[in-house]
This record gives sequence, C-alpha cells and structure tokens, in this order.
Amino acid sequence: MVKKAVIPAAGFGTRMLPASKTVPKEMLTLVDRPAVSYVVEEAIASGIEDILIITSRGKAAMEEYFVPHFELEAKLAASKKFDELKKLKELTELGNIHFIYQKEQKGLGHAIRCAKAFTGDDPFAVILADDIVYNEGAPATRQLIDAYEKLHGVILGVQYIDDKNISKYGVIKPETIGDGLFRVTDMAEKPKVEDKMSNFAALGHYILTPEIYDAIDETTPGVGGEIQLTDAIRKLIAKGLVYAVDFEGKRYDAGNRLGYMKASVEFALRNEEIGEDFKAYLKELAQGL
Ligand code: G1P
Repeated sequence: MVKKAVIPAAGFGTRMLPASKTVPKEMLTLVDRPAVSYVVEEAIASGIEDILIITSRGKAAMEEYFVPHFELEAKLAASKKFDELKKLKELTELGNIHFIYQKEQKGLGHAIRCAKAFTGDDPFAVILADDIVYNEGAPATRQLIDAYEKLHGVILGVQYIDDKNISKYGVIKPETIGDGLFRVTDMAEKPKVEDKMSNFAALGHYILTPEIYDAIDETTPGVGGEIQLTDAIRKLIAKGLVYAVDFEGKRYDAGNRLGYMKASVEFALRNEEIGEDFKAYLKELAQGL
C-alpha cells in the first residue's frame, strides 16, 4: 500500500522571479489556495496519509500554511464566519504533513534522497509542486497507485507532449503492455527533439520504491550539473523495474508565468463562488481582444 508522499519544494523558483524572491513559488495563489495546497489535496484524495515536504530556507510561509491558527479560528467562530472557519479547518486536517530541509540544492534526485528516513522500506508517491493536475475522476496519483498495486515497480506518470515542448522533460522509451500502460525501456532527461525516444514525458508524478536510494547514491551530476531523478530511474530501468501510466487529467505547469496564468484562469472558471461571473467577464474581455 502506498501511504506516503514526498513533495520536493526546495528550489529557488527562478522562473517566477521576482515574486519568488520573497514568496515561495509553491505559495503563489491559484484563485484562493497556494499551488502546494492543490498538490497536497491530490495526495490526500489518492489515499496518502503522510506527506513529507522537502523545503529550504525562506519558505516558512509554506510550513505555517498547514498548521492551525487558533486565534484566527476563535475570531471567525466568534463572528459566526462558519464558511471561512470550515475552510481553515479542512486545511489543517489534510493528513500528517512533515518538513525536512534540503541543505544543498543539488537537483531533484538529491532532494528525493532527503526522504530516505521518512519513507524507509515503503514505496512512496512523489508529486512535484509545479505539476498540478485537474481531474474529475481518479486523481493522477491514485491512477499511479492503482498501477503500482498491479505491477509492484516504479511507476512514472506520463502524457503526450508535442515536439515543441518535449525537450523540457524527462522522456521515456515506452513499450505498450496495456491500455495506457507501458514498460519503460529507456529514459533521458531533457533530450534534444532529434534525440527524443518518444513523445511521452514524465510530468511530475511518480511512485518510487526504496531501490531508488541506492540508484541516487550511484548517480553522478547530469543535465545542468544536477543529480537528476531521471538518471537514477534509468539505473532501475536496466533492472526491468520501471513502468509508466498515461494518466488522465489536465496538467498545468504552474512553475512558469504562462502555465501559471493558464492554471489561474481555468481554476477560476471552475470555482463555485466566482466561476460564472468570471466566465461572463472573460467573454466580454475576449470580444475586445
Ligand atoms: C523535472 C524533472 C523532469 C520532469 C519535469 C516535470 O524537471 O527533472 O524529468 O519531466 O520535472 O515537470 P524540471 O521541470 O524541474 O526542470
């Protein structure tokens, strides 16, 4: 059973500067909740009970977001603002959230390595805080856990990405073994388009097994001089342990300006409170564009 998740959130967020100089990019708001909240909610909705967020200095707001604010709760109760109170309470009831500091920023593989004591001998989910998925059906991580329960290997969440964008991602060489299910026979981090092994890219959702830690320890710096998770996974591919799921859901890259704006607009359109009014506003605005 996969009951633990790791959310790496220690990076500088350079694609969102200057805001990310003082506001962790994971705390930038999509309608009424920070990006990291969507990812934690996905984990909980997938059956995860314990979450480790890998953090770094200057991100205290992210930790405070998940702890109860008793004064504020008492004030909301006294002024009968029960809807707001419910929202606050729901937030702090989102499973057990733990934090650990990544002491040096040496890449995604290195960040995941910080989770070793937390995950122990258990398989675990990894969700990158930039990769937000909207889905009316089973959450993306749940779809990966379902595949893990059948295959008991490393599971990568992948989707089709066009040639224009494929070089931004970890790209797999897939061998179809079922509907939307692949055995992964090779993988490369950020390949040039002419070297791509397919158009299926890993989009920030993984189920990893404890074997990943030895693989990370054996991994030398790769693309960008960083210890890449992709390179560590590649070592497990050689042992035949890696699969991929073409997961359902609309995925946003909330870690860059355009992706963040698209996510903001679409989550606003889906929002119960403001969705209809926002749609009317957008339609009117679009006429003048
Ligand atoms: C990371 C991973 C990459 C993956 C991507 C998904 O890259 O290294 O394999 O495809 O996340 O968003 P980053 O976006 O941190 O450069």
